[in-house]
Amino acid sequence: MHITIRQLQVFEAVARQLSYTRAAEELHLTQPAVSMQVKQLESSVGLSLFEQLGKRVFMTQAGETMLRHAQTIMRHLATAREEMDELKGVDSGRLRIAVASTVNYFATRLLATFARLHPSVQITLDVTNRETLLQKLEDNQPDVVLMGKPPKDLDLDADAFMDNPLIMIARPDHPLSKHRSIALKELNEETFAVRESGSGTRIAMERFFDQKSFAPSATIEMTGNETIKQSVDAGLGLAIVSVHTVELELALERLIRLDIRGMPIMRRWYVGHRRGKRLSPTAQAFRQFVLDEGTRQAVA
Ligand code: PGA
Repeated sequence: MHITIRQLQVFEAVARQLSYTRAAEELHLTQPAVSMQVKQLESSVGLSLFEQLGKRVFMTQAGETMLRHAQTIMRHLATAREEMDELKGVDSGRLRIAVASTVNYFATRLLATFARLHPSVQITLDVTNRETLLQKLEDNQPDVVLMGKPPKDLDLDADAFMDNPLIMIARPDHPLSKHRSIALKELNEETFAVRESGSGTRIAMERFFDQKSFAPSATIEMTGNETIKQSVDAGLGLAIVSVHTVELELALERLIRLDIRGMPIMRRWYVGHRRGKRLSPTAQAFRQFVLDEGTRQAVA
């Protein structure tokens, strides 16, 4: 058998996702490239690893057996990489960081400072919403993540490092812009631009509306904070976002913060990693740096 690690990596992604398309997206490959790697692996082992019924992909018994071995090999490789990084010390090696899209607004600032302190570290930054981030953690892809409160069922070592107040934004010419202590029921007729499902901001907003028994008359769902901000600026309606995403617009008075009773919704940012994961000295240094910066900014 002539099997390459790349083939195993691609096979493992297809087996986990049970989809060639999703595996291709995850690996930043084309779908034909993914099928080709799987075909080559199948021809090396002399058995089919998947079968396709209609549009759905299923694993064969050989596929399931192969997956067990592929996962063991990938785990060993990850441990080997972590041990090598450990031997290299803080100022070298790789650092894979994944952040929730909302955290990105200040994560890039943190990273810029960290990169200046450790110029030889190769940093990769992956920005996704909360749900995708949790999936990546399950798959042990990032070394360190920055995100909203992690779910209890995830085996994560996580510490809060900064407050994340969620506020309601509007255009400066909104009729309620000068009002104080506005009750949600006064917003019954408003349209809300809301984040895609899977976003932590969206979950927090829904929880807040539920607690207050409030249901907006119209919502328009959109992906990402930038689209939300642009829509509010264009006069589509109101939105709830993290204050970190609109610092510039608030300073320029391009958008304003409505004084809503019960708001801001107080959340916190966490820095975390999989419990039991061997953190390289670089990853440990980054984790500590984030915690220190969080404390410094809170005090400042
Ligand atoms: P998100 O932010 O809305 O970009 O997913 C993460 C979070 O608030 O948990």
